[in-house]
Amino acid sequence: MMKRNVITGALTALCLSLAGCGTTGTNEPQIPEAPPAPEVQEETAAPEVAAPAETEAPAQSDEGETAAGSDALVVYFSRTGEQYTVGVIDHGNTAIVAEMIAEKTGADLFEIIPEEDHYPMTYAELTEVAKKEQNDNARPSYAGKAPDLSGYGTIFIGSPVWWGDWPMIMYTFFEENADALAGKNLVPFSTHEGSGLSGFDRKLASACPDSTVLDGLAIRGNDAQNKQKEVRETVNDWLSGLGY
Ligand SMILES: Cc1cc2nc3c(=O)[nH]c(=O)nc-3n(C[C@H](O)[C@H](O)[C@H](O)COP(=O)(O)O)c2cc1C
Repeated sequence: MMKRNVITGALTALCLSLAGCGTTGTNEPQIPEAPPAPEVQEETAAPEVAAPAETEAPAQSDEGETAAGSDALVVYFSRTGEQYTVGVIDHGNTAIVAEMIAEKTGADLFEIIPEEDHYPMTYAELTEVAKKEQNDNARPSYAGKAPDLSGYGTIFIGSPVWWGDWPMIMYTFFEENADALAGKNLVPFSTHEGSGLSGFDRKLASACPDSTVLDGLAIRGNDAQNKQKEVRETVNDWLSGLGY
């Protein structure tokens, strides 16, 4: 079902799926006609664009477990700058959820950072670049190398929903690491503003057919920023259901 929302102060009317927050693995995603328009908050100065950091592979012990004794890894992509409903942020919505997962499970973290950070820091421009990448079926490169995945049994993989799908840079990761991901448990998670998990689980299973995709989690980006106590409970409940 599509619902047209007029958001106070927003720039654009938009259509969003109402899949909401929670484990929404079976919902058919509904791609918004236009991504959610941001409510631009007080802060208007353009944030500094950080150069892509050197990506280091997480440390693993000889036994293949992480320093914290977990066999889990959290791979995520997340943006700072201007985002829908939260204004200009310096800690990405998905990053917040990724860190909660790592704290609870003892997992290592691997952030997917674009090799050349061509993503604009203003929301409207970012949506255009993202749309073009999707239309072009692009495979943007990420900085550094993925860590050695051989010691990990479970890999949480999360990103924002972009235009009803994984950002294309995530497909770069899936495809470049398809062999290493084979035989692993993959656990998708998203942050979004209405589209829920947006078929992340199905699309991940399709990109990595030799992996097992477990129940995913979708969290509202605004909640990740502003309702962290509740979100942490939701994340922890979900992880308990997965045996953590
Ligand atoms: C390019 C772009 C496209 C988006 N498309 C959708 C969408 O289709 N459905 C949705 O619910 N939210 C959409 N959003 C909102 C983001 O999914 C949401 O703000 C997310 O929490 C951002 O996470 P991040 O801070 O980790 O990047 C979009 C945002 C951007 C920038």
